[in-house]
Amino acid sequence: MKDAAPQTIFLKDYTPFGFEIDMVHLTFRLHPERTRVISRIAFRSNPNAKDADFFLHGEELTLIWAKVDGADVTPRMEDNGLRCAVPDRSFIWEAEVEINPGANTALEGLYMSNGMYCTQCEAEGFRKITYYPDRPDVMAPFEVRIEGDEKVLLSNGNPGTTGDGFAEWHDPWPKPAYLFALVAGDLVNHPDRFETKSGRDVELNIWVRPGDEGKCAFGMEALKASMRWDEDVYGREYDLDIFNIVAVDDFNMGAMENKGLNIFNSSCVLASPETSTDGNFERIEAIIAHEYFHNWTGNRITCRDWFQLCLKEGLTVFRDAQFTSVMRSEPVKRIGDVIDLRARQFREDNGPLAHPVRPESFVEINNFYTATVYEKGAELIRMLKTLVGDAAYSKAVDLYFERHDGDAATIEDWLKVFEDATGRDLTQFKRWYEQAGTPRVNVSEEYQDGTFTLHFEQSTPPTPGQDVKDTRVIPIAVGLLSPNGDEVVPTQVLEMTGAKQSFAFDGLASRPVPSILRGFSAPVILERESDNAERAFLFAHDTDPFNKWEAGRALARDGLLAMIRDGAGPDDAYLDAIEAVARDDSLDPAFRALAMGLPSQEDLAQSLYEAGGTPDPQAIWDALETLKQAQAQKMQDLATRLYAQYQVDAPYAPNAEQSGARALANAALGLISRLDGGALAQKQYDTADNMTQQLAGLSCLLKAGNGDAAVALFYEQWKEDRLVIDKWFSLQVIMADPDKAAQTAQTLTKHPDFTMKNPNRFRATLGALAMNTAGFHHASGEGYKVLADWLIKLDPLNPQTTARMCSAFETWRRFDAARQAKIAAELDRILAQPNLSRDTTEMVTRIRG
Ligand code: PHE
Ligand code: ZN
Repeated sequence: MKDAAPQTIFLKDYTPFGFEIDMVHLTFRLHPERTRVISRIAFRSNPNAKDADFFLHGEELTLIWAKVDGADVTPRMEDNGLRCAVPDRSFIWEAEVEINPGANTALEGLYMSNGMYCTQCEAEGFRKITYYPDRPDVMAPFEVRIEGDEKVLLSNGNPGTTGDGFAEWHDPWPKPAYLFALVAGDLVNHPDRFETKSGRDVELNIWVRPGDEGKCAFGMEALKASMRWDEDVYGREYDLDIFNIVAVDDFNMGAMENKGLNIFNSSCVLASPETSTDGNFERIEAIIAHEYFHNWTGNRITCRDWFQLCLKEGLTVFRDAQFTSVMRSEPVKRIGDVIDLRARQFREDNGPLAHPVRPESFVEINNFYTATVYEKGAELIRMLKTLVGDAAYSKAVDLYFERHDGDAATIEDWLKVFEDATGRDLTQFKRWYEQAGTPRVNVSEEYQDGTFTLHFEQSTPPTPGQDVKDTRVIPIAVGLLSPNGDEVVPTQVLEMTGAKQSFAFDGLASRPVPSILRGFSAPVILERESDNAERAFLFAHDTDPFNKWEAGRALARDGLLAMIRDGAGPDDAYLDAIEAVARDDSLDPAFRALAMGLPSQEDLAQSLYEAGGTPDPQAIWDALETLKQAQAQKMQDLATRLYAQYQVDAPYAPNAEQSGARALANAALGLISRLDGGALAQKQYDTADNMTQQLAGLSCLLKAGNGDAAVALFYEQWKEDRLVIDKWFSLQVIMADPDKAAQTAQTLTKHPDFTMKNPNRFRATLGALAMNTAGFHHASGEGYKVLADWLIKLDPLNPQTTARMCSAFETWRRFDAARQAKIAAELDRILAQPNLSRDTTEMVTRIRG
């Protein structure tokens, strides 16, 4: 599995492959330990390529035989593939290889999960299935024959002949190998149909293990809604006779957009009211949409090379966010996305793993499926749309589909359609793709004789390998409010292109209060002097829901920073303001629940570090506890009122309205439980008929220190349901007091249901430890040690998941010398492991710096 010397791959070195493929034919003879794959591939030389080196990728394959035009050949075997002499004209390559899916714990290539065969080929898993030019710019139609005893045999495209012990599939749309998929198992389906806008009748299926049939209906509705939405909003129609989704238990990521055969981590598709929370439902709806939308943004138009990953991911994340905004509440979705962006992407962008949205080099591409590529990538699309306007955005995207359908495209191609459709020069905008780091935008203001002026200044700190940053174009959405709370200047987008730039508004009767960066119009850190009074004013009056929330958040953050740094007590201005918003029944309950939330420990640590301080994780935790307790005391009556008022009487439905009500009632329950020892939470737990209510009850009980009985009962009730038991593992770790978090995680690893082989379970236990910020960063260093121990154990089995989880350590430079020394020692211990994977080696080396 180890490569001799990990190689760095550079964008600037891109060259096209020397050959094109007319057709791929694959036969699979399935066997758990000895699967045979017979390939027959029609190659011809690529007129656009200079060099005609016939190199096929291949890893962990046993070559049985190979032929060129029917004659046996003996290829030169190399570490990561083979080379072979081939004729200077069209020819047929044939080979038979043997692979061992049963031994595949890395979950890349062909592997087994609970007795079913399953593949994962993005990014470079196809080379573990057969010898092939495993690169996204080599596209071909596929014909697949699967031979096996399983009841269900699936691959991409449309079904062909099926008989006893075999099935054939034909995918007419040329695709890169990373979109190949195969599934075989004794599965059952939840079927449906969809008629496309041009009248094509499409068969839809969600395939699951027997017993999970009852958890498919929601996913199916989400799929049909996604298909309709992509037709209505982007004019994109589905292009095959069948669309299959398969749920698999062992999966490294969330889901995969294989052509016509999406494969999902079961946690991202299976849903029922009894076993899934409101949050799970919303996430499942978004992921189903995301994978479906990839059919056009990713599959019909794919990426030329892996440096262009954001071309499909940024755009598809943006599209799924648009979808969620219409299915649910737009402001609530936006606020949630920004909370995540700051927690994950800003953290990445301001640490040792910072990289451009389009990176210029990598060692292991699996390490670049990051918040920067996905979430910041989506922010760039959003900014582009803000800058050119909605109509021009549609025009440019139409041109993109028209011009590049069937292509393996680049970011240059993407930007060119916008330039051609709008006549705009996007040279400066392109820097967003090329330069890492979060820009700081400082703003000061001036008022004189009816003219209000905003002075902006931008700068981006250096990131690893990029010391100097150029000025970027930044769309800054601004509105002005009069001192009595009326909006005097509605939202307009200021286009900042210089390092320093001022914008004036005249004809004002009095000094206005500005609302800046409305809707979070750019992924930047806004630096602005403000005071409690102004923040409370905006929290009460801003007409932009995002900035209204943001004002409350800033108020909370400032108060917490003062508590942490200066030992101040809870800030009354914040407590008054939050109570007023929570009390206001004219506001969306989901919005109020978000407003009642406090900044995360991560958020506060970032702010402290940003201001030149050294965050103390325990002090952050203490301040949050103190403030929550003060909120509980102050809002005692209101919390009781809200809890009663927002109980949902109707039968459970996972829609925005009901989940908003539950979110608010459960925020109230969180406060009440701080005062009643968990009595009300226990009652809710005992009577809950859905997982949202049950889990909220359980987490309040754990917080109150009275959760033991419920934890035991919960396990008894749900021990047969692996997805619910994941929640049981993670909640105990996340809710543990900082002193106990490492021990709790360690103890849970001894539970008979703990397994390293299932990424969901591993993340539910050890990933949860990293999410318990104060517990993970406990001064004893126990958190670091427990996580490092388990990452060392997981690496030989599953490098991809191990490497991703190393990012728990990425913030280490923020902390005091003692913590830094402890983390450095763990990083060095990981690096010193013999045969450490390329994935983990790259991550730990970059983090260590
Ligand atoms: N392409 C998948 C998505 O974003 C993510 C993924 C990457 C899944 C790599 C598996 C492996 O939808
Ligand atoms: Zn994606």
